[in-house]
Amino acid sequence: MTAPDPEVPVITIDGPSGSGKGTIARRVAEALDMHLLDSGALYRLVGLAATRQGQVGAGEAEIAAIAADMNVRFSMNDAGEEQVWLGSEEVSSELRTEECGLMASRVAALPAVRKALLGLQKGFRRAPGLVADGRDMGTTVFPDARLKIFLTASAEERARRRHKQLNDKGIDVSLAALSRDIEDRDRRDSERSVAPLRPADDARLLDSSNLTIEEVTQTILDWAQELD
Ligand code: DC
Repeated sequence: MTAPDPEVPVITIDGPSGSGKGTIARRVAEALDMHLLDSGALYRLVGLAATRQGQVGAGEAEIAAIAADMNVRFSMNDAGEEQVWLGSEEVSSELRTEECGLMASRVAALPAVRKALLGLQKGFRRAPGLVADGRDMGTTVFPDARLKIFLTASAEERARRRHKQLNDKGIDVSLAALSRDIEDRDRRDSERSVAPLRPADDARLLDSSNLTIEEVTQTILDWAQELD
């Protein structure tokens, strides 16, 4: 693989789970015809791969080795939905489960795992540009990004969105249990010592609690245009 080109523009969209990062990042990437990096999927993949190899309780070095060895590929299906491949297997729906999210949050707290995924993430920086979504895209992975967004929404609103998403899929979970999970995950992600969830010093904060997907997307596109 050729080295990532530092001239290629990057837009980072970081924030807590349920802030709408994934949807917004996809829309912004489509509108600007840029590549997309869903970094959360990489942490979810490490969790999934470790589980499958019976290594959930393994030490940091073993899990980092799994991360370094993963054969990952992203593609898009005809409906425009992201597909994630682990080797020759399409694992997108498995990755979205709460169980995988929990595993991801645990492996993401291991410094050696974050280090193992760094090169892979930087490799997504290809012309004409990249929209990267995650927790530490603006602080650690692409500190020289042209535009950094920190997207938030109240915990209540995030739980409500997740509840609707699961309900639409016919999955029945209580709103209270989801709120608790979201708050637990936020705490773990922002209190960990390595790459904690926090806005980069030069990030623009955007609260999506009372905005539609279109409004959030347009705000980011306007900001991107101001910088052109
Ligand atoms: O965005 P997501 O829900 O798919 O992320 C899954 C987990 O991975 C989440 O608990 C935080 C972690 N993560 C991270 O630590 N750093 C990133 N850049 C992306 C995700």
